[in-house]
Amino acid sequence: MSRQLALVTAALASCLVAGRPMAQDAPRLTGPEPFTREQPAPPMQRAITNDVRVTRNYPEQPPVIPHAIEGYALDLNANKCMSCHARKFTEQTQAPMISVTHFQDRDGNTLGALSPRRYVCLSCHVPQTEARPLVENRFTDMDALSEREPVNGRGGR
Ligand code: HEC
Ligand code: HEC
Repeated sequence: MSRQLALVTAALASCLVAGRPMAQDAPRLTGPEPFTREQPAPPMQRAITNDVRVTRNYPEQPPVIPHAIEGYALDLNANKCMSCHARKFTEQTQAPMISVTHFQDRDGNTLGALSPRRYVCLSCHVPQTEARPLVENRFTDMDALSEREPVNGRGGR
């Protein structure tokens, strides 16, 4: 056994002895004990529907949905989202138009309409709720990171 592997094994063993999970911050995923005990479902969280578009955490992030979507059909026969976000309806609805990537197929061809691979909007765009995060979120915005960098006098970038 290599030295590193021995160390890892020892660390793992000590965690198991202490009866604690390895990742201290991880939420409990195993449910009640014993697992057969029934628990009331947690309350539904209130959706954030204030219509304020949310800053993206990075440029390629699918923006989150800032409005109610309850009851919006999204199936084989109907796509309610497109009744506002399609190019031809945006003047009337003032919804932001789906961007050009939504017209592109996987081979990079730009189609005349919504690409099938972008049909199921909710696989990428999600509404938000007021739920408290299960674990602390230490995400740092890219801008905050670059602001912290010392300015390089030679302007070398
Ligand atoms: C009745 C019109 C309407 C429908 C239907 C609708 N939207 Fe919207 N959507 C809007 C408007 C208007 C905005 C601009 C912000 C606001 O007013 O809520 C918006 C904002 C958004 C945004 C944020 C865009 C950004 O740049 O921040 C996303 C994502 C979005 N909608 C996705 C969806 C999805 C997915 C559906 C279907 C489940 C949907 N919308 C259905 C009108 C609509
Ligand atoms: C495969 C993931 C995916 C699917 C499916 C998808 N989107 Fe997006 N969407 C994105 C990403 C990523 C962005 C941000 C980058 C970009 O514009 O391509 C985005 C951007 C948007 C924007 C903002 C456009 C802008 O210019 O500000 C709107 C509005 C939007 N999507 C609506 C929709 C609607 C409505 C659907 C369903 C018909 C949909 N999207 C399906 C990934 C997706």
